[in-house]
Amino acid sequence: MAVAQRKWSALPVPFAIEVPDRVPKERYYDPAFYRMEADLLWPRVWQMACRLEEIPEPGDFAEYEILDQSIVVVRAEDGSARAYQNACRHRGVKVVEGRGTLESGFTCPFHGWCYGLDGANTFVSQRRTFSEHNLEPGDIDLTAVRCETWGGCAWINLDDDAPPLRDYLEPIASILDAWKVESLRTEWWYACRLPANWKLAQEAFVEQYHVLETHPQLRLPGRYPSRQGSFDPKVFVESELEYLRLMSEGMAGMVHASDVRIAEGLAGIELPDEPRAAMDVWNRTLNHEVTRRHRELGHDMPDINALQDQGINEPMAYCFPHYLVLPMYSSASAYRFRPLGPEETLMEIWSLTRFPVGTERPRPVPPEVWANDDERWPPIPAQDFSNVPRQQKGLHANGFHYMRLSEKNEGHISNYHRVIDAFLAGLPWERLVPAMRSVNVHPLEVPVLDLEF
Ligand code: FES
Ligand SMILES: [Fe+2]
Repeated sequence: MAVAQRKWSALPVPFAIEVPDRVPKERYYDPAFYRMEADLLWPRVWQMACRLEEIPEPGDFAEYEILDQSIVVVRAEDGSARAYQNACRHRGVKVVEGRGTLESGFTCPFHGWCYGLDGANTFVSQRRTFSEHNLEPGDIDLTAVRCETWGGCAWINLDDDAPPLRDYLEPIASILDAWKVESLRTEWWYACRLPANWKLAQEAFVEQYHVLETHPQLRLPGRYPSRQGSFDPKVFVESELEYLRLMSEGMAGMVHASDVRIAEGLAGIELPDEPRAAMDVWNRTLNHEVTRRHRELGHDMPDINALQDQGINEPMAYCFPHYLVLPMYSSASAYRFRPLGPEETLMEIWSLTRFPVGTERPRPVPPEVWANDDERWPPIPAQDFSNVPRQQKGLHANGFHYMRLSEKNEGHISNYHRVIDAFLAGLPWERLVPAMRSVNVHPLEVPVLDLEF
């Protein structure tokens, strides 16, 4: 998975997106396509490697694995997060595994070579038995990997020429900053092994079109005015509360129970009879109350109505290629998708919420990986997971050739696939960055865009 040195001319991409609202099925299982992603996409993209609360103190480290690469992210003495390729410069043993705390730098478990938190080699046992050219200063330090922090996370990039993280993540980074995502902390962390391609897995979550069929319990009467024009504010409020409870069930940060309780406290609210006005009063009152109550508790909480006024009260934020944040009222969920094989994905879900500023939180413990049909999954992800393996199987049907996307509602899927193609074609960063800015947005109900490739 080395970063190839190449001239920037467009390389042919097999199974490329030729018609923007059609996705060739081979992109989800063809081994050569998967290999191209491994060689040309993953070594160049910024990847969410760990949450910063996993490495609170100097010496704390977290291993991040992507494909055949292992990277260690460590908190250095100066408080910064650093990353290194997790391979001893002697004979390649991984210097750490999993998570933990280094008492005095890294010590390789094989022959005891040592490295500081800055990656510098500090000890070679039986040094005189090596020839000089194998111990050149600098050449025996841990190999540094680009590492930057944002949004409560450490991010890594294996490409030394990649743009800075913020340039790469805009405009969604500024929107999530307004949401104060850096103040969110882990409440729980789950993981699922899905028998599906990593792109297929994430596509179960980035459109709204599936919601009524996949999650029938969310079809609630009275949430929207009927065609006959009948609207009862009391039925509307009851439906809103039921919706929030269903979204919250087992999912914590999706709609946090504390916010459901705040909403329930507004059940007796007087609303106008006119539907739009009633919805507006309800939403603004709930936003205001959630903001006020969380601020009273000492949480670093954005003003949700101010976000609404700026047009950024959106329930989902996409960070190309594999990370999503779903802010809802006080809290949020976050998803990360990693390929384990052409037809296997590790999906992680974080429930994130707010705690009084300065509260000490325990280091999050990496989750046990559950199967997609594990009974412990809350209802909504269980429903989403039930479709994914069926879809991966269905794609293989001889008579099925491409997905046909809704040009208006499923455009995000086309858009981010075409950005992947731009990576596989080897386009230079100055062409990739504007394209990424088109997809690092709120992905729901986005149309197919002209990305100018
Ligand atoms: S492989 Fe690390 S000290 Fe030998
Ligand atoms: Fe869903």
